[in-house]
Amino acid sequence: TRDYRIATIPGDGIGREVVPAAASVLDRAGALFGFEIEWTEFDWSCAYYAEHGCMMPADGLDLLRDFDQIFLGAVGSPEVPDDVSLWGLLIPIRRAFQQYINLRPVTLLPGMTSPLRKDIAESIDFLVVRENNEGEYSEIGGRLYRGTPQEIAVQEAVFTRIGVERVMRYAFALAKSRRKNVASATKSNGIIHTMPFWDEVFRDISIEHPDVETSQHHIDALAAKFVLAPAQFDVVVASNLFGDILTDIGAAIIGSIGIGASGNINPEGDFPSMFESVHGSAPDIAGLGIANPLGQVWAGSMMLDHMGEATAAAAVKEAMSRTLLSDIRTPDLGGDATTADVTQSLITTLEEVAR
Ligand code: NAD
Ligand code: IPM
Ligand code: MN
Repeated sequence: TRDYRIATIPGDGIGREVVPAAASVLDRAGALFGFEIEWTEFDWSCAYYAEHGCMMPADGLDLLRDFDQIFLGAVGSPEVPDDVSLWGLLIPIRRAFQQYINLRPVTLLPGMTSPLRKDIAESIDFLVVRENNEGEYSEIGGRLYRGTPQEIAVQEAVFTRIGVERVMRYAFALAKSRRKNVASATKSNGIIHTMPFWDEVFRDISIEHPDVETSQHHIDALAAKFVLAPAQFDVVVASNLFGDILTDIGAAIIGSIGIGASGNINPEGDFPSMFESVHGSAPDIAGLGIANPLGQVWAGSMMLDHMGEATAAAAVKEAMSRTLLSDIRTPDLGGDATTADVTQSLITTLEEVAR
């Protein structure tokens, strides 16, 4: 059998519920499709921080480096400031392992119900390619005169030619395997340095791909189009912050924030990639056993795809659809099923799919 070594970081809140749920579905997929996953869990989280004063050990990144992939739940808790928890764990992994692509599918799978009108929602099927290493998420800046009326906070957005070109190239290559259409999220009418640069690079790369149709949208208008006319999109390329915001809208229009999946990808394969759900640790429902595991399961399916297990990956998605069609859904999707109910149904239907 084919063997994969996966590092899991369940993290905080519902991450600790949806990661084991998704892992049990992937294990079943392995048994049915001829591969085996060896999981190694790292209990790095806000609870770990309370005990050790850091989100992960000093050699944390080295401990992850040799795994095939990383499977992460969510990081963040009301007890620890988000800039401490996220910049201490999630963001360093994305950067150290050059996971400069954050790929987030926005597809209305059969069985999913969108909050949008049926005729609008019907053919939602696009991918957001979010720049994942730079842009608005920079450490450059600072705070002065804390607590005084003169207080100032400054943060620089950093866009590099290498960084922008590589995310655009990835988006165009992806579009070529699909409907050959790339939309770029911009804000050149309101941001005078970085976004016009982004647009220039977009134009340069689009010239290399004359067979791909392109369009540019101001981020504010694009947010509205995600809700009013999402079927027009095939691949959407966006900066780090714009892509972040767009993909919560993306998850919402295909049913729930609990459904969105995310691949933090190092396309060169020099380092492990990391797969996670789009949602966070959801402290408001943590511990209740009602978190929707589908976002994490979908992320697991993306991970299988990334490792070359395309048949198993498709089967997992098929099991998701069949589960939704048999109306087993968590409360965020209007049902009354628990995380465990959905997980059990996924495992059972996966067996049917494999037969
Ligand atoms: P959130 O995504 O955790 O929650 C937003 C809302 O969606 C909540 O009402 C929550 O109950 C609901 N929700 C989210 N996932 C769900 C699921 N699987 N099933 C059912 N309902 C679900 O966003 P937030 O409240 O802004 O953030 C909470 C914490 O998570 C913060 O500390 C934040 O920084 C962190 N966060 C981490 C990640 C990550 O690790 N990648 C991502 C987003 C937010
Ligand atoms: C996400 C999250 C993170 C991000 C936060 C928690 C830093 O919202 O993965 O979408 O903004 O990238
Ligand atoms: Mn987000």
